[in-house]
Amino acid sequence: MSKKTAARASRPAPPGVDANEDIAAMIRVDHAGEYGAVRIYEGQLAVLGTDKSKSKTVAAIRHMAEQEQGHLKAFDALINERRVRPTVLEPVWRAAGFALGAATALMGEKAAMACTAAVEEVIDQHYAGQIERLGDADPALRQTVETFRADEIAHRDTALAFGAEDAPAYRLLSGAIKVGCRLAIALSTRL
Ligand SMILES: [Fe+2]
Ligand SMILES: [Fe+2]
Repeated sequence: MSKKTAARASRPAPPGVDANEDIAAMIRVDHAGEYGAVRIYEGQLAVLGTDKSKSKTVAAIRHMAEQEQGHLKAFDALINERRVRPTVLEPVWRAAGFALGAATALMGEKAAMACTAAVEEVIDQHYAGQIERLGDADPALRQTVETFRADEIAHRDTALAFGAEDAPAYRLLSGAIKVGCRLAIALSTRL
């Protein structure tokens, strides 16, 4: 082994740099995702909110929307406390989230629920991945992510109970939304 290689091998990683950057990226993408979720439900409620014939669906959406507001508030606080740069894509998620919610709601209650089921399935996987990556690194953040993940799983189950899978062209709709969510996650982690 050359001197240079030996030096490289024995040199410890710069303390905390990678971990901190990774955690900042996690907070950034989660903040963006919770914002997107709030906007999706706002879009759905803008279409369905005043429809008295759909009051059960609307009540379920309102309940989920309130929980998303709580999630967003928590990540707003983390962004500020930890001085994490928020995503520059916020205006995009503002428009895209609302449009996705409104468009699926215009297709009907079941399509709105299919949207929720698809989004929450991706978010469940996303949060599960973060929990695994965090390990013991940041117990406070991990606890937050675990709590919110449980809410997202409950949202997915609510959406399925409300007939998400009976939406017209369910597979196509669900698949397209999942692709969009994964792309949004990838972009918001970096940007
Ligand atoms: Fe959420
Ligand atoms: Fe959710």
